[in-house]
Amino acid sequence: MDVLLLNGGGRRDGFTAAMCRSFSSSVESKGWGVCEIPLLELDIRHCTGCGQCCESGICTISDDMSSVYDAMKECDLLVMASPVRFSGPSSILKVAIDRFQPLWHLGEERGGYAAGMLCGGSEKPDFRSTLTVLRSFAVTAGMRWVGDACFPDTDHAPVSDAEAQAEGFGRQIVNELKPLTPR
Ligand SMILES: Cc1cc2nc3c(=O)[nH]c(=O)nc-3n(C[C@H](O)[C@H](O)[C@H](O)COP(=O)(O)O)c2cc1C
Repeated sequence: MDVLLLNGGGRRDGFTAAMCRSFSSSVESKGWGVCEIPLLELDIRHCTGCGQCCESGICTISDDMSSVYDAMKECDLLVMASPVRFSGPSSILKVAIDRFQPLWHLGEERGGYAAGMLCGGSEKPDFRSTLTVLRSFAVTAGMRWVGDACFPDTDHAPVSDAEAQAEGFGRQIVNELKPLTPR
């Protein structure tokens, strides 16, 4: 399986980045390929809702999103990682999700799988609305949702706990998807 890991974290040394690293090494150890894209490093403009992708299936904005589109074409499993921000995904991740509007307009049944990895600062973050956003994007784009790992209390918990959870999530995903065919 080829994995596209969209890292929507805002801190290079934050929990989201640590979870991405652990997830990657977990699935890579089973022979899967991972392409991690730290969205913070890219110049991705907002979807303007111009509607031109309705006709062509292609976004007219020329920016770093082109490399994300290319990586998306290759992947069997999309993993979206984000901190919870005001109970939603980071704007860093959401800007990229909105730019996948061409997939909705194409009504493309692209197949493949999608999953989420979240963290939040408080003891009991409300992960539900973020998961709703990620799941609804995945399903709209024709991917099957295969699960999530949500790590709370980053204000107090050690990063090693988040790494352990992400590592376990990687193992779980490999076991669940192993019997299934890649896209
Ligand atoms: C703008 C902003 C909004 C946030 N909103 C929430 C929130 O609604 N719930 C929560 O539990 N934590 C919230 N946090 C805390 C982050 O989820 C937490 O610090 C997380 O570890 C940040 O991810 P990172 O470690 O990858 O940088 C917020 C942080 C920021 C900067």
